Amino acid sequence: MNSLARALRLAGLGLAVALSLLGATTASAQDAAAGRAALARYGCVSCHALPGGGFGAGARCVACHAEVLRARHSGLGSAPAVRHYLFVPSLASAARRMRADALVAYLQDPTHRRPRLEESMPQLPVTETDARAMVAYLRVAAGARAAAPSPAPQRSNLEAGRRAFQASGCPVCHSFGTAQPALSIPPDTLRAMGAQAVLGPDLRLARDSLDPDVALAWILDPQSVDRDAHMPRVALRREVALALRDYLFLGDFGAPAPAPHVVVQSELTPLPRAVRFADVRRLFGRSCIHCHAHTTGEQASAVFGFPRSALDLSSYEGVMAGVVLPDGTHRSIVTPDASGTAPLLARLLTRHLEAAHEASPTRAPRSEAAVGMPLGLPPLSADDLRVIATWLAHRAPH
Ligand code: HEC
Ligand code: HEC
Ligand code: HEC
Ligand code: HEC
Repeated sequence: MNSLARALRLAGLGLAVALSLLGATTASAQDAAAGRAALARYGCVSCHALPGGGFGAGARCVACHAEVLRARHSGLGSAPAVRHYLFVPSLASAARRMRADALVAYLQDPTHRRPRLEESMPQLPVTETDARAMVAYLRVAAGARAAAPSPAPQRSNLEAGRRAFQASGCPVCHSFGTAQPALSIPPDTLRAMGAQAVLGPDLRLARDSLDPDVALAWILDPQSVDRDAHMPRVALRREVALALRDYLFLGDFGAPAPAPHVVVQSELTPLPRAVRFADVRRLFGRSCIHCHAHTTGEQASAVFGFPRSALDLSSYEGVMAGVVLPDGTHRSIVTPDASGTAPLLARLLTRHLEAAHEASPTRAPRSEAAVGMPLGLPPLSADDLRVIATWLAHRAPH
């Protein structure tokens, strides 16, 4: 069997049909098949809808959280509260909207695109080769994309575009940097309004991720670019859409938003009281246990494509056992390592650096340290970190 046929078989029928429609070359078919395997390895399906079947069950974080919320609303029992991983962009045809180069860069160094989402795309250990392959798959599987050619963006359109942004209701779902903030809507109302209201990106990023022709086609009719688009069609005359597009591509999006406060270790002065494991466990219960319980700990690293290891934060014994490696050896998370900081605290501080970089990649450098915790979620507050730092300073008592 030749390699194209093998790649097609690996990738399943949906991709085969897309490839034959596109007349794809053998090389890109091989890339796409490798990309499909990489998407499975990094557990992308835990959070995103992906084109084509056969990605396995994954951890399906989003599907289960939506279920939990529905059960709560149906009045069946008292299901626990979930706030995160309810709305996540679909990848079914994101590659028809976003440029390939932008996607490749994003997968290796994700930035925060959606101001109304607290969670971000997690910092996964994605290599450039894997990023290229995954994007090749997403493009092929999403099918051919044709946007009619349009005039290059023009400065003479800026004022008309700025006015149209307000007049056409774009701020209901989008901000444009700090120049045009999105309408302020309470979180509960937003959640009830659903994906379309929550998932609008900050449009200052549009010029970095879209082709001008695609952007115009999108503004005129999002579903013409992506059948699964959440953005509703806004009825616009073509010249208004063009002015909006030019404003997004060339307009001034205002001064950068204030940088988030990055908590550093020297701020974490010890609390003047005893801290027990129960205090720390309460903090772990909020956002860590889900990936680090004895039932899930072993999976978390493997599910998201990290080197295999297990860490159980649900019990004192688990925390003291630390990281368990596949060869059975243990690594403490509470004893300071060569850097002088306990790995537990180091990971929590790193998340602050990552969040600052995700919000503003040009102002805050990328963290070189091991990935921060909680993975993909907002960093712990300085007050919470003081509790953990004090507990560690007292040698992690029971
Ligand atoms: C734990 C959940 C989670 C996992 C796992 C995950 N993502 Fe994401 N991803 C997100 C969230 C949340 C966002 C939205 C973040 C934002 O817009 O700021 C996102 C955004 C994206 C976007 C941007 C899409 C857009 O419309 O802006 C792409 C592309 C993407 N993810 C690809 C991937 C790929 C490929 C993988 C696997 C390598 C992956 N994600 C794994 C949660 C996840
Ligand atoms: C089988 C259903 C199910 C699956 C699968 C699942 N969760 Fe959860 N998740 C829950 C429930 C139920 C809670 C509430 C737990 C509580 O309050 O004690 C929760 C709570 C959480 C919380 C803390 C509350 C919040 O919203 O911030 C996080 C973080 C979390 N889950 C992340 C994940 C991630 C990441 C995955 C995928 C790797 C995942 N979950 C998969 C059911 C699930
Ligand atoms: C009801 C909410 C809503 C309204 C109103 C809305 N959008 Fe959107 N828009 C979205 C969502 C959600 C997305 C993310 C893609 C998706 O899932 O559809 C999006 C994506 C976009 C993108 C792609 C950005 C990127 O970086 O990928 C552009 C450009 C855009 N919208 C322009 C506009 C303009 C211009 C207006 C006003 C005419 C507008 N939108 C009105 C919800 C909305
Ligand atoms: C969405 C899933 C997820 C959540 C939520 C999460 N973690 Fe993790 N955690 C991981 C993964 C995956 C790894 C493996 C990363 C690696 O190998 O670098 C990890 C690794 C760690 C490590 C390092 C283990 C080592 O190898 O040294 C610590 C410590 C840790 N997590 C603590 C936490 C704490 C504390 C929280 C809550 C504040 C948390 N994690 C929330 C997924 C998660």
